[in-house]
Amino acid sequence: MTTYKHPHGHVFYRKMNHARPKIAYGEGIYLFDESGKRYIDGSGGPLVVNVGHGRSEIVAAMAEQAQKAAYVHAIMFTNEATEQLSDELAELVPIDNPRFFYLSSGSEVVEGAIKLARQIQQARGQATRDIITCRSLSYHGMTLGALGVSGRPGLRTPYMGMMVNMPHVRPPYPYRFEASGEELAGRLEESIMAYGAETVAAFIAEPISGASLGAVVPPDDYWPAVRRVCDKYGVLLIADEVLVGMGRTGKWWGINHWNIEPDILVTSKGLAGGYFPFGFVAAKHSDVETIRQNLGDWNHGGTFSHHPVGCAAALATLHIMQKERLVENSATLGVKLGEMLQDALGHHPNVGEVRGRGLFWGVEFVQDKASKDPFPAARHLAWDIWQKAFDKGLAVYYSQGCADGQNGDVIMVGPPLIVTEVQLVEMVAILTEAVHEALGKGA
Ligand SMILES: Cc1ncc(COP(=O)(O)O)c(C=O)c1O
Repeated sequence: MTTYKHPHGHVFYRKMNHARPKIAYGEGIYLFDESGKRYIDGSGGPLVVNVGHGRSEIVAAMAEQAQKAAYVHAIMFTNEATEQLSDELAELVPIDNPRFFYLSSGSEVVEGAIKLARQIQQARGQATRDIITCRSLSYHGMTLGALGVSGRPGLRTPYMGMMVNMPHVRPPYPYRFEASGEELAGRLEESIMAYGAETVAAFIAEPISGASLGAVVPPDDYWPAVRRVCDKYGVLLIADEVLVGMGRTGKWWGINHWNIEPDILVTSKGLAGGYFPFGFVAAKHSDVETIRQNLGDWNHGGTFSHHPVGCAAALATLHIMQKERLVENSATLGVKLGEMLQDALGHHPNVGEVRGRGLFWGVEFVQDKASKDPFPAARHLAWDIWQKAFDKGLAVYYSQGCADGQNGDVIMVGPPLIVTEVQLVEMVAILTEAVHEALGKGA
C-alpha cells in the first residue's frame, strides 16, 4: 500500500492538489517510499539523475570537500575542486579553450548566459545589441529573464507585464510543421533583420527540444544553418544544454550530434547528478578575455557561485560517467529504448509520434493519427497517463502544450544512464499498461 503525504503539513508545492509519497531512500534507478513501495525513476524527475541514486563515491567526495572547506566566496578565493573540474570539462565541452562559471540551477545559468552574451557584445564595442532572440514552444527557466526567452504561454502569461518579452521564432518540430532546417534558419534571419542586426546580441535554443516539445530532434541541416546565420550577423549562439547535456542524448552534448561550436553553452540538471543543485556557463576564452580587457569584470555573480561542494559533486559524477562509459550506454540503450517504445506504442491510434535520441524519448498523443488533433487540455491526458504509471511504480515525466502552447500531451522517458536493457523492458511494459488504461488498447 502506498502511503501518501497529504497536503496538510507546513510545506507547499507547485502542484497543489496532489498528495505525494514520502521517499525513504533511493538505490540505482529505484526510489523506495516509507511504506517500502518501489518506484522506477524513469526520468530522474525532469531528467536529472544521470548516474543513479545512492552513489557513495559522490557522497564521499561531497563530504570530504565540505569537511575541508564547505564554502568560500568566489570573489576572494578559489579551490582545488573548482579548478580541477574546469580543467576536466575543458576537454569535453565543444568550445575552443573554454572558461567556466558555476551557478546553482538551469534558470541561473540561462540568466548568466544571456547577461554574458550582452557583455561580450558590449566589450566588442557593440553596445546597441541587447536583444536575445529565442524560440516559441521552448523552456529556459522560471526566473523572469529566462522566462522572457522561453516560449511556454502557460508559464509566462501571469508575468507578462513584469518581464522583457524577447522575439520568438519557430522551433524545429517536424511532426507538426514541415520545414527544412534552412527554412527555419531563414525565419531566424528574417527576425534578426526585422529588429536590425545591430540590436541582436544572441540566439538561444535547446539543441534537442526538452520538456516543452518532448524530445524533438531537429532536421540535420538545422544547426549548421543556424550557425551560419548567427555568424553572418555577429549574433552569438547560446546552446541551452540544461536538459540534454551530460550524455543524456548519447553524446556528451546535444549539439555534438551536428558538430557545431556554440559561443556559449550552459548545462545543469545532470551535471552533479542531482546530488547538488549545480550548473555552469561555458564561454570561449577569447570572449572572456575581451570582457576582461575592455570592461574589467563581468557584471554578474551570486553568493553560491563556484560552490566547492557542488564542484566536488560534479567532479565525482563526471568520473562515474567516464569510468562506467555512461555516454556510450546512453547511445546504445537509447536506440533500444526507442525501438521498444515504437513497438509497444507506435501503432496505438492515439500515439502521434515516438521520438528522441539517446536515453531521452517522448511519446506524443493525439485524438487521431490522420488529423494530428491534440486532446483538449482539459482532458489532462498526459497527467492521467503519468498518474496511472506512477501508481504502478514508474515515475516518468509529462508535459502539456506541445501542439499549440496549450493543448498537446507528451510523456517523456529518460532513466538514469546506468539503466539496463532488462530494466527498460519493465519500464516500457508499465508505461504501455498505463496508456492502455487511459486510452484503451486501440486494437
Ligand atoms: C532546457 C532548459 N533550460 C533551463 C531550465 C531551467 O532549469 P531549472 O529548473 O534548474 O531552473 C530547464 C528546466 O527544465 C530546461 O529544461
